[in-house]
Amino acid sequence: MTQPALSHDASPDLRSAFAADVRAGLTHTPQKELPSKYLYDEVGSALFEVITVLPEYGVTRAEERLLAKHAAEIVEHLPHDVTVAELGSGSGRKTRRILEALCKKRPTSYCPIEISRSALQLCRRELGDIERISIVGYERDYLAGLAEVSKQRSADERLLVLFLGSTIGNFGRLAATRFLREIRNMLAPGDALLLGTDLIKPTPVLVAAYDDSIGVTASFNLNLLARVNRELDGDFPLDAFEHVARFNPDARSIEMHLRAKRDVTAHVGAAQLTVSLEQGETIWTESSHKYRAEEMPAVAGGAGFVCSHQWIEEEWGFAESLLVAQ
Ligand code: AVJ
Repeated sequence: MTQPALSHDASPDLRSAFAADVRAGLTHTPQKELPSKYLYDEVGSALFEVITVLPEYGVTRAEERLLAKHAAEIVEHLPHDVTVAELGSGSGRKTRRILEALCKKRPTSYCPIEISRSALQLCRRELGDIERISIVGYERDYLAGLAEVSKQRSADERLLVLFLGSTIGNFGRLAATRFLREIRNMLAPGDALLLGTDLIKPTPVLVAAYDDSIGVTASFNLNLLARVNRELDGDFPLDAFEHVARFNPDARSIEMHLRAKRDVTAHVGAAQLTVSLEQGETIWTESSHKYRAEEMPAVAGGAGFVCSHQWIEEEWGFAESLLVAQ
């Protein structure tokens, strides 16, 4: 089944990396898996934007409230003369608060780091009107982009890294600390990281946030298989799969899976793969780890930071932690 590709910028390199990851994930035993980063093609990114306004998904609104309320205070606790580097530019709506508060004090450089060119353009359009801002986008993955930003700053400039939205939750706990340490290794003592984390809350609330009543998250999840079909010449019958969101109490994470409603065999041409699932078997597509605000100092310490301040949104349960490189 061949359909026109929806992604216009998928280079042959990216496609073969996608094929290799799909092959590795779907032959993984005992649990088949697909990396969550592939959820965000053009369709998936649009669906995620819808998720952020669903009544059940309080994460984004909680962070927006937090930053709207405390931006001025957060900025008071930052080192002077910071250049801002953001990992994943998102829609720019949350970041605006911080940038406006900074630019009010002095002209500020903002470096969004993002692998998607269209997201970078969107972010420039969204934030370019802030007075005294200069925006330099980096079309790179997070760590490569941050290395670049860090290399180009002058000796008296401090860096503020923004890692918002609870994206850190997609890493396992060990991997999260490892990732934060890699960030730390590119920073100088006194540089800061503002880290957004979604907090643990009652299981029914969490499950509803990842299994909403009108099925947007289900579509977001299923789009991953649809994307394999579109881009890698696959033939997964989408109607044979259902979306599952479940809380894993040991990992303290919400897991998304795609569950086979019947026995399924499918082919992925570009991955030279034939894959079979038994009825009830799942493909694990994403984990979203939840934190307690009190565990952030230890997480920070394990990565070479000190957690100097925290701002908590109590209504939904979201924390912004300011980590300072030691
Ligand atoms: C963008 C990774 C923060 O984990 O909450 C939302 C992605 N997945 N609903 C999250 C997501 C399903 C989201 N992050």
